[in-house]
Amino acid sequence: MQPITTSFFGQSLISIGQFNSIAPVLDLFSTADKMRTVIEKREIFEPLRGKAVAILFYQPSTRTFTSFHAAATRLGAYVIDIQEMGQYSSAAKGESLEDTMQTIEQTVAADLIILRHPEDYSSQIAADTVSLPIVNAGSGKAEHPTQALLDLYTIYQKFGRIDNLHVAMVGDLKYGRTIKSLAKLLALSGSNNRLTFVAPKELAAPDELLKDLGSNVKITCKEELNGTLAEADVVYMTRVQREWFEKEGKLDRYEQLKNQFILTRHLAGLMPADSIIMHPLPRVGEIMQEVDDDPRAYYFKQMRSGLYVRMALLARILCQEI
Ligand code: NCD
Repeated sequence: MQPITTSFFGQSLISIGQFNSIAPVLDLFSTADKMRTVIEKREIFEPLRGKAVAILFYQPSTRTFTSFHAAATRLGAYVIDIQEMGQYSSAAKGESLEDTMQTIEQTVAADLIILRHPEDYSSQIAADTVSLPIVNAGSGKAEHPTQALLDLYTIYQKFGRIDNLHVAMVGDLKYGRTIKSLAKLLALSGSNNRLTFVAPKELAAPDELLKDLGSNVKITCKEELNGTLAEADVVYMTRVQREWFEKEGKLDRYEQLKNQFILTRHLAGLMPADSIIMHPLPRVGEIMQEVDDDPRAYYFKQMRSGLYVRMALLARILCQEI
């Protein structure tokens, strides 16, 4: 994996592990701020005119797909998208990921591919196969780097800092990919950040993640949520990922684990007034709808950050200067 330099130009984004420091991320955030102005003022800003972006999704998506699509289109790119690659591409006939990537490079004359795929190493495989930049829009259980970027951007907007924060990550920390990417990004963001991982034993953060995070961040692992709420700046809820239980033939365990942590209005009320509740969404019961009116509920605002950050990322990868 190539380390990411500040320019981003011509580079793939496969994993948060590509960042050696937080500087390129902060730089990207300043471009995201510009994109916010473009959107808010409804300016026409089309630096990607003449460029072709392919969005290829092998797994379901609402937010990631629409925000990438909107980002590329708003910037003036020609966009080709297939949302059900497993069903409507030749993958259904058994074509390999490598051959499909070669095909898209040729048939679309694509300048960039945005890929979501159930295999952990899919984006790396794609980047090794074609000579154009790949943006990982979710790879298996492993990584979701653009989600982490938009999450950190949201945190930065709210607190004005990315250091000295206590972030509680709650739910399915074993199968969920968003928390892995965000935890790595927070570890890079500041040496005074604290992470509290809250999950049932069976869904605890994998050892590999804990090893990756090393001593860059203070980590506590718990099986109980209540005590953490009063101390956290951010409570990052996640759903228990049914699809992986299904794949492993363990749906009965899913049923037993799915309702372990439910954020109610009462529990949200235990959080500090200045804290926020985040969620990559979709939620399937772990945040009650009654919490939506709470000023600490940030999961809908968080989505808009995705548009700005993804616009910034596409523009930076495809344009030498913007
Ligand atoms: C997440 C994903 O796909 O990993 N969704 C998203 O991109 N916002 C989270 C999830 O599916 O639980």
